[in-house]
Amino acid sequence: MTIEIKPLSHALGAEVLGADLRKPLDDAGVKSLREAFNQHIVLCIRNQDLSEDDQLRAAGYFGKVHVRRKPTNGRDPGGQWDTPFMMVTNIVENGKPIGVFGDGEMWFHHDTSYYPEPHRATLLYAMKLPSWGGNTCFSNMYRAYENIPRPLRDRLEGRKILQVHDYKRRERLDLDKIDLNSVRHFEQPIFITHPVTGRKSLYVSRLMSARIEGLSREESDAALDQLFAIAEDPAIVYEHRWELGDLVIWDNWCSIHARKDFPREEPRLMRRLTIEGQAMRF
Ligand code: OGA
Ligand code: MN
Repeated sequence: MTIEIKPLSHALGAEVLGADLRKPLDDAGVKSLREAFNQHIVLCIRNQDLSEDDQLRAAGYFGKVHVRRKPTNGRDPGGQWDTPFMMVTNIVENGKPIGVFGDGEMWFHHDTSYYPEPHRATLLYAMKLPSWGGNTCFSNMYRAYENIPRPLRDRLEGRKILQVHDYKRRERLDLDKIDLNSVRHFEQPIFITHPVTGRKSLYVSRLMSARIEGLSREESDAALDQLFAIAEDPAIVYEHRWELGDLVIWDNWCSIHARKDFPREEPRLMRRLTIEGQAMRF
């Protein structure tokens, strides 16, 4: 089996051709996948018919698969626990959501940026799709870093950013209303050095980045507005139109992602795994 890598856009992303993930890949195949992943940030492998075990094996090519543990603060954001799988879905059964992230739009974010060790990667496998919408947009944070005007970059270099998860999907964080003791949060470098590629990457997002350390509230808000605009510049975004059987994996350290709206009465179901990460460094 020879794997071929075909870029999906000028921004980021590549399609992997010639892989059947129902069977184990040989060492050369795994090596090509990893190299393509480090280079292209997002990989899409279409037309896959994957059991849970197949998806677990595929995820293992990229690192150690994370098993979800229930938060200790008593809050239950939904979904399954003590299994590596999580369903990303709007499906409700017997009045209870069977997964997480519900319906509609979701603003740009890094997954688990509010953890001391944010996940390296996330894999979504498309199992049910609505008739329109629900596209996932990915933005290249290496390019975002390069696009920050020099004076702003110099002013922010070495600073930290407070990352907060308050379980919203499309609303700015309001630090006046949020009790930080009750939600997950962590201060991260505002510019990280990607632990694998060694490249500098912007580490902020509209959904989860609350405040730049050491700046006044006004200065921080103004700088964040500028950074969000740079991070969401369409020139560095690839928009993925899902097809059933797509397996998409993204590098969660050097990209942010967002979901577009879709009809709430139509089921959308993605089977999700994440790959364990490590601490982010300047
Ligand atoms: C996620 C996520 C977006 C989508 O699984 O982390 O943000 O398109 N999903 O469902
Ligand atoms: Mn996400």
